[in-house]
Amino acid sequence: MPASEQVNHKEEKDKQKMKVIVIVVVAIAVVFGVLLILYCISKRTNFREKLENNVMIDQNIEGQSEDMEVTFFTLATVATATNNFSSNNKLGQGGFGLVYKGTLVDGKEIAVKRLSQSSGQGLNEFKNEVILIAKLQHRNLVRLLGYCIEGDEKILIYEYMLNGSLDSFIFDQTRAEVLGWSMRFNIIHGIARGLLYLHEDSRLRIIHRDLKASNVLLDSKMIPKISDFGMARIVGGDQTEGNTRRVVGTYGYMAPEYAINGIFSVKSDVFSFGILLLEIISGKKNRAWFHPDHGLSLVEHAWKLWKEGRPLELIDTCLEDAGIQSKIIRCLHISFLCLQQHHDDRPNMSSVVMLLHSEGSLPEPKEVGFFVGKKSPSSSKNQPSSVNEITNTVLEAR
Ligand SMILES: *[C@@H]1O[C@H](CO)[C@@H](O)[C@H](O)[C@H]1NC(C)=O
Ligand SMILES: *[C@@H]1O[C@H](CO)[C@@H](O)[C@H](O)[C@H]1NC(C)=O
Ligand SMILES: *[C@@H]1O[C@H](CO)[C@@H](O)[C@H](O)[C@H]1NC(C)=O
Repeated sequence: MPASEQVNHKEEKDKQKMKVIVIVVVAIAVVFGVLLILYCISKRTNFREKLENNVMIDQNIEGQSEDMEVTFFTLATVATATNNFSSNNKLGQGGFGLVYKGTLVDGKEIAVKRLSQSSGQGLNEFKNEVILIAKLQHRNLVRLLGYCIEGDEKILIYEYMLNGSLDSFIFDQTRAEVLGWSMRFNIIHGIARGLLYLHEDSRLRIIHRDLKASNVLLDSKMIPKISDFGMARIVGGDQTEGNTRRVVGTYGYMAPEYAINGIFSVKSDVFSFGILLLEIISGKKNRAWFHPDHGLSLVEHAWKLWKEGRPLELIDTCLEDAGIQSKIIRCLHISFLCLQQHHDDRPNMSSVVMLLHSEGSLPEPKEVGFFVGKKSPSSSKNQPSSVNEITNTVLEAR
């Protein structure tokens, strides 16, 4: 073989070798590349799945803190639970709508408040109210479970209270006997705590504006829960009172400055609490009861007895027991402090809660104020509907 051919041959061989090497390298590179890409893709989906999970968890946590587990119910669910809003399921009438008892498919009992279309509440106000109530969580406030908005229907779903409302106990001769003083005191204390939370302890300052016996519900352990926030008003941080041209509330529980001038404040709630206290102690309804002899209203009659030094005559007969009389008289005293004519003279709820527990001396009450009665601008005697317990009593402010 000539030398030049030999060189050529060698070059040829080297070239082929190179080709094979290149092919192998490329092949390996491609395989690695593909593997890498596959790996990356799988990793990315994993990552995305993880990310999505995280986002979902975050949303759940956030949803819980923001919306407090308020659930949206479909109208069909609510209709099924209440037998199509059957009158047999009717529990009563609250401000702005009828309340029904319902049973969900899983057996859980609920209270369903169907707002009447004439409630005049718009969609945004309704949603705001839902969010507001959902944020209020306290052992002495009824808990909102969910809501339903569909077509014209606006519905609130609350936890169901086994023992019904306080008025069905204290104003009923036979059921009232079940309530001994310690149970009554626990109820008084619970209501005071619930109201204190609304006024001072929650993130918002809330004035209920319609505290009354029928708006206090009792659970299976007789723990009282304040309900019906349809008329509640939020007032700004430092603000403690507001003014309205439309006075809503219930005669007999309204503070004079609210009933007459439309000025509401935490102190007008304190006044309503004072009336409630008087009713729990006496077993008599402020709005419906007048003394058979002199026709005085409950507040006037109680105040008269107090001034004459005969407070024990007011106490519900079921409560006559010497050992507890001094405690009852202390509560009566506190109720007069809550019923002071001028709102500055009334204690705030944190003072009330403190006074209920302490044994120290109490300030002497001045003249009590009242709205129902002979001297009131709108005597209940001229009001044929005065026994009617429906809340949405509206009178124009003067
Ligand atoms: C409720 O009403 C719907 C339609 O009107 C009807 O189909 C359904 O059977 C009713 N359900 C009950 C429990 O009455
Ligand atoms: C309240 O309800 C519970 C459960 O239904 C019942 O056991 C209890 O007797 C009720 N309490 C009163 C005072 O009626
Ligand atoms: C409640 O009243 C007491 C006694 O007057 C007072 O010391 C306290 O600051 C009041 N609390 C609020 C939140 O206004």
